[in-house]
Amino acid sequence: MQTLIRAVVHQNFNQSIRCFSTRKSPTVRRSYLYVPSSSDKLLEKSLTVKSDIIIYDLEDSVSPASTDKENARDRLYSFFQRKDIPQPERIAVRVNDINTPFFQQDIAHILQSSSVRTLILPKIHSAQDLHYVSRHIHQTYQKYPKEIPLRIIPSIESARALWNLGSIAGWKSEHGALNGGTVSGLLFAAEDYCADTSILRTRSRQELLYTRSQIAIAAKAFGLEAIDMVCIHYKDLEYLQDECEDGRRLGFSGKQAIHPTQIEIIQNTFVPTAEEILRAAKILHGMRAAHASQKGAIGLDGEMIDAPMIKQATKIIEIAKEAGLEVPQIDS
Ligand code: COA
Ligand code: MG
Repeated sequence: MQTLIRAVVHQNFNQSIRCFSTRKSPTVRRSYLYVPSSSDKLLEKSLTVKSDIIIYDLEDSVSPASTDKENARDRLYSFFQRKDIPQPERIAVRVNDINTPFFQQDIAHILQSSSVRTLILPKIHSAQDLHYVSRHIHQTYQKYPKEIPLRIIPSIESARALWNLGSIAGWKSEHGALNGGTVSGLLFAAEDYCADTSILRTRSRQELLYTRSQIAIAAKAFGLEAIDMVCIHYKDLEYLQDECEDGRRLGFSGKQAIHPTQIEIIQNTFVPTAEEILRAAKILHGMRAAHASQKGAIGLDGEMIDAPMIKQATKIIEIAKEAGLEVPQIDS
């Protein structure tokens, strides 16, 4: 049932048209919003935000002092005892990195909660780092067994990580699926990556094109989610819109956010536009008719259409259906 369908025209941006329904599959993961776990106010606020995934952060949005890190971890642990927290499929936690004194306790405490289904792992540089993480998850799960697999998402934020991208994306745990058996997605942390590589950021983002493309393609090679960088200019929504469209063109499936105002634009961009869905539906219809009359290629609105376009069109329709978007029926 396609109910409550409405068309939104982003007149302030690029006039692209997207149709969406308020019914949305929980498997659609377009927006990943960070919420600093050091703040009661922001934790409370996270109960009202509509991000597909909420990343409760213990890393860089928390001050590095030991007491602040420990307080944030305790605060988050108590928060997860509440009855009104988001459904577990929407909850992720970003722990501190494996080279900090906080990592082991983060894992030991946070994974006691059955609400945590996704771990974001900052500063993963190699598959060996993931083995180290997996050993600690395994130790915790021996005390607090779980039946639902944990999703593991390494954050790519160094030259070494980019160099080792294939082995990170294809990593397999020595401890089986429940302990984060494989990687579920790759996430790009642009600011740390630039700090590591001395790349200088510009508004054009061209200096990050190679890296973002590599990450999106490595994710595709292993069937993973590809999560694009944070747009730090959180007050400039046109900048965000442009960056979202750019990320989607590169193949990313979603994007990180730092402010609630960024969520709607991310969610509306990381789905096919109404024009794309209509074109995909026309392609599938036209190619069915072509194959029925022993033809492999057709002309559609001045473009040659053949087998690869069927593959792309099928994916577009699949994503549209998953997101609860209206898919037109083409009958003639
Ligand atoms: N999650 C939930 N709520 C948030 C939020 C977030 N990440 N960021 C802002 N809000 C809330 C504020 O609490 C405020 O609520 P109120 O209207 O009830 O008072 C409202 O949204 C507007 O916030 P605003 O005043 O515009 O933001 P700010 O100037 O207070 O804070 C940031 C700006 C960037 C510091 C803040 O958004 C933030 O801390 N973001 C996360 C940063 C982070 O996690 N970084 C690490 C990952 S890269
Ligand atoms: Mg970082």
